[in-house]
Amino acid sequence: MPLDARAPLAPYRRHGSNAGQPLTRRDGELKVTGRATFAADNHPADLLYAATAVSSIARGRVTALDVAAAKAHSGVVEVYTPANRPPLAHDPDVKLGPFGFRIEVLQDDTVRYAGQPIALVVAETLEAAIEGAALLNPGYEARPARTGLGDGERFAPAAVGVGASPRTLYGDIDAGFAAAKTIIQADIATPAQFHNAMEPHAVVAQWDGDHLTLDMPNQALVMSRDAYAIYFGVPPRNVLIRSPFLGGGFGSKAFLNGPQLLAILAARHLKRPVKYVLSRAQMYGPVGHRGRTWQTLRLGLDGDGRLTAIHHHSIAATSSFEDFLEPAANASLHAYASPAILAETQGLRLDIGTPGPMRAPGEASGSAALEVAMDKAAEARGMDPLDFRLANYAETEPGTGRPYSSNALRECYGEGAKRFGWAGRPPRPGQMRDENGLLVGWGVGAALFPCPHFAAEARATLRADGSALVETAGVDMGQGAWTALAQIAAEALGLDPERVEFRSGVSDLPDGGIAGGSGHTASAGLALHNAGEDVIARLAEIAGADPASPLFGTGNVGVVARAGRLCRRDDETRGESYADILARAGLDALVGTGRMARDEAAAQSWAMFSHGAVFAEVKVDPDLGVVRATRLVGAFAAGRIINPRLVRSQYYGGMIWGLSFALHEAAHADRRTGRIMNADLAEYRIPVNADVPSVEAILVPEEDRYVNPLGVKGVGEIGITGTVGAIANAVWHATGVRARRFPIQIEDLLHDRG
Ligand code: MOS
Repeated sequence: MPLDARAPLAPYRRHGSNAGQPLTRRDGELKVTGRATFAADNHPADLLYAATAVSSIARGRVTALDVAAAKAHSGVVEVYTPANRPPLAHDPDVKLGPFGFRIEVLQDDTVRYAGQPIALVVAETLEAAIEGAALLNPGYEARPARTGLGDGERFAPAAVGVGASPRTLYGDIDAGFAAAKTIIQADIATPAQFHNAMEPHAVVAQWDGDHLTLDMPNQALVMSRDAYAIYFGVPPRNVLIRSPFLGGGFGSKAFLNGPQLLAILAARHLKRPVKYVLSRAQMYGPVGHRGRTWQTLRLGLDGDGRLTAIHHHSIAATSSFEDFLEPAANASLHAYASPAILAETQGLRLDIGTPGPMRAPGEASGSAALEVAMDKAAEARGMDPLDFRLANYAETEPGTGRPYSSNALRECYGEGAKRFGWAGRPPRPGQMRDENGLLVGWGVGAALFPCPHFAAEARATLRADGSALVETAGVDMGQGAWTALAQIAAEALGLDPERVEFRSGVSDLPDGGIAGGSGHTASAGLALHNAGEDVIARLAEIAGADPASPLFGTGNVGVVARAGRLCRRDDETRGESYADILARAGLDALVGTGRMARDEAAAQSWAMFSHGAVFAEVKVDPDLGVVRATRLVGAFAAGRIINPRLVRSQYYGGMIWGLSFALHEAAHADRRTGRIMNADLAEYRIPVNADVPSVEAILVPEEDRYVNPLGVKGVGEIGITGTVGAIANAVWHATGVRARRFPIQIEDLLHDRG
C-alpha cells in the first residue's frame, strides 16, 4: 500500500510517517493462499503420531487399561500410562513460578476431571494411534462428580487470576452502605466457556540428542522455552520453539499443558519425531477454559444517583488440584467512582479441568455483572443509564485516586451515543417495537481494560542496501502483530514498511515477551522502536564523524531519519541515504538493539487503562423469547493507534465475543457424569455471521504521554468487556427481564414473564 508522506504526524513521531496507516496484514496473502504453515503442517521424516485416551469419568481412579490390546494393534509403537511414563526433570505437581500450572502428565491413576488424559498411544499412523487409544478400554472406580455450586467445596483462595488479590477493600464499606438511600443487588452466574481456537493445540516434537525442536502454537515463546528446558532438564539454548502462526490462542496457548508435554516426552523416549494434535473434544479439559462464576453485586446509592458503595462478591470455580480463579470481582475496582469498594472472591473446587486465562480474564465476566448491576441501579434511581454512568464517572482511579495516564471514556460515551442514536431512548422497558412487532431494546455498557507491559527485547539490522531486518520472538496469533510491529519498527528506522523485513515467532530471537494481556504491541513494539532508534543513533554517529558526509559535524540531535535517508533537521535537503553512509564506512550491516523494561514508578503513579463504551440494540420475539442483537456500536480509546484497520478488527472480534458471551456460549456438564455434553463446535454455540448483523467500532482519538513512550495502549480484549452488559441491558429494555445468568436463554425470558 502506498504511503502518504504528507499525512499529519501522530504524536511522538520522531522520524518517519509509517505508523498510523491502515496497512493490510503482512501474513494475509500467506494465509489465504495456504502457504502459512501451522504446527501440524510439519511432517519431519520418520514421524510418529500420538493420541491420548481420556477418562470418561470425572472423579475416581483408573483401575484397568488393556495395554496389551492396544500394543497388539498393527502400527502401535508404544503405550504410555502412569506405570511406564518416563521421568521428567521437574515434578509436574510443582508449579513453575506465577505463570506455571500443575500439569497433568500421567503422574498417577487418579482421575480429576472428565477428559483427563489417562494414556498416550504412539503409532506409525494417526489412525493406528487413535485405534490403539480406543482399545485401552479403561476400567474405573468412580466417585460422584462435583459439578456445581451445590456440591463443590468452597475455599478461601490465596490469589485470583495470575497473582491478583482475592480481597481488596477501598474506603469503609459499611459506612458506604449506611450512607445509601437505596441498595440494589444483582446476582449473575457466568458459565464455563472454552477458547475453541480454530487451530487445536498441537505439537511436532523432534529431539536430536539433548536438543529439542518444537513446532507448536505458542503465545509466549521464550517463557515456554525456558519452562520446557526445566521439565526436560536441558539448557534453554537447547530448546527451539517455532510458532510462526497461530490459529487463535486467546490465552490458552500461553501456558504449558500435559498432553503436549507427554508427546514431547514420548519423542525423546522413542528417539523419533512425534506429532500430537488434540481433537476438538479433547480440548475441553486439559488446556484451560474460562471458569464459572456466581457473582453478587450490591450497590449503595445516595439520593442524587451517586454510588456510595460497591460490593462485588464472586464465587469462582476451579479444579480439585489447581487454584486458578477467574478474577471477576476485581473488575469493579477500576470502573466507577465510589467512596467504598469491596471486591472479594471465594474459590469452589469442582471435578473439572483447571480454568485459566481466556480473553479478558476477569474483566469480561466481572464487568458483565457490574454493568447489569449499574443498569439496575439507574432504573432504581429513575435515571437514564448513560446519565447514571456519567454521574458516577471516575475522574481518577477509584480507590487509589491515581490519575489516569489518559482517559477518554467521556468522549467514548459521547461519540458512541451519537452514532448509535441513544437520545430519545424511552426510560421504561417494553416501549419500542419494530415494524414486525418485535420488542426493541437499547442498552449501554462501559468497557475498560488494563495496560500491562511485559519485558521484551528486539534487534534491528540495517542492511547495506538501506533495507532493514527487525527481529523479536513475538507472536502473531491473528491480531496482526507482524504488521503493526513492523510499522513501529519502520517508523523508528525512518523506512517505508515495505523495506522492513520482520522476523518473529521463533524462540531463538530476542525475547518478545508474551502475546497476551492486550500488551504485545506496547511491549514488543517499544523494544522494536528502541532497536530502530539505536540503529539510527549509530548511523548518525558514523555520518557525523565522516568528513565526506554532508552531515559531517552534525550531532545526533540535529538529524532526522526519513524515507531511508538521514538528513539535517533544519534542512532536509542536506543528507544522504543509509546505503551511502554504510558503503563509505565499509559496513555490510549495522545492528541496534532495544528493550522494553517496565517502569515500576510509572506503573505506581498512573492508572493505565484502555476505555470504551458499547451500545447495543436487541430485538426480542415477544412470543418465542428469541433474542437477536441487531446493532452494536462501540467507541474505544486506546491511546495511539498504530494501524486502524487492524485495531478496528480487534474491536469487532471483541464485540462479537461479547455478543457470544451474552447470548450464545456455555459448556454444560452432565451432573451425573461430570462430562461436558457439548464438547464440539456443533453444540457449543458461537455466533455466525447471521447472528451479527451490524457491528461498528469507533476509534476515539486519545493521546497518552505517560503509558509508554509510544503512547500505545491495548486493544485486544476490551471489546468483550462492555458488550456483554450492553446486550443484557438492551434485553431488559426490550422485555423488562434482568439477566441473572449468561448466556441469556429463551427460557429466562419466558419464565420471568409469567
Ligand atoms: Mo489473552 S487471555 O491475554 O491471550
